[in-house]
Amino acid sequence: MRQAHDLEDKRIGLGVTGGIAAYKSAALCRSLVRAGACVDALLTPAATRFIAPLPFQCITGRPVLVHPADADAGEIAALAAGLDLLIIAPLTANTLARLALRLGGDVLVDVALATRAPLLLAPAMEPEMWQHPATRRHAAGLLERGATCVGPGEGRLASGAAGLGRMAEPHEILDRARRCLARAA
Ligand SMILES: Cc1cc2nc3c(=O)[nH]c(=O)nc-3n(C[C@H](O)[C@H](O)[C@H](O)COP(=O)(O)O)c2cc1C
Repeated sequence: MRQAHDLEDKRIGLGVTGGIAAYKSAALCRSLVRAGACVDALLTPAATRFIAPLPFQCITGRPVLVHPADADAGEIAALAAGLDLLIIAPLTANTLARLALRLGGDVLVDVALATRAPLLLAPAMEPEMWQHPATRRHAAGLLERGATCVGPGEGRLASGAAGLGRMAEPHEILDRARRCLARAA
C-alpha cells in the first residue's frame, strides 16, 4: 500500500501554462502537497488568464512565480538546482516550442532550462496543434533529451472539439511523477 506522505522529502516545480486545462492544475498541486512534497508553482503570464496564482499560493504555502521580476537570477538558479522534478501541466504548444528551441524569457522556461531535474510534461491542446509537424518535432526533441510525456489523451476538449489533445488527469500525472522520482532516486 502506497504511503500517503511518500513525497515528503521531494521538491517539485509545478509549471502551469495558458490552456483551459489549467484549472485542473490546482487539484494536481493539492495532491502533490498532500503527498508531502514541497511545491513551487510557476505560472506563465498567459496561465493567469485561466487560473489566478492565489489558489496555488494557498495550497503550497509558498510564493508563486509568474513574472521575471518575481525572482532574481540567483533565486531562479537556486530554485532550479533544488528541484527533484519539474512538472508542466498543462503544457501549451507555445511553451513546448519554447522549451524545445531553448527560448527562455519567462520564469517557467528559465527554470526548465536551468534545472537538471527530470521534466514531466502533460501537453494539452487542440488535436490539430498536437498533430502539427512542428509540435511533433518539438515533442520528439524533448523526449530524446530525456523528458517524459504523460498524455495527451483522446476525448472531448473544453473547446468542444474531440480528439487527441486532452490533458492527462491529475491522478495520472501524480502516478507518473512518482515513477519519474523513483527512477531518478
Ligand atoms: C480560450 C483559450 C484557450 C486556449 N487553450 C489552449 C490550449 O489548451 N493549449 C494551447 O496550446 N494553447 C491554448 N491557447 C493559446 C495559448 O493561451 C497561447 O498560445 C499563449 O500564448 C500560451 O502562452 P504560454 O505557453 O506562455 O502559457 C488558448 C487560448 C485561448 C484564448
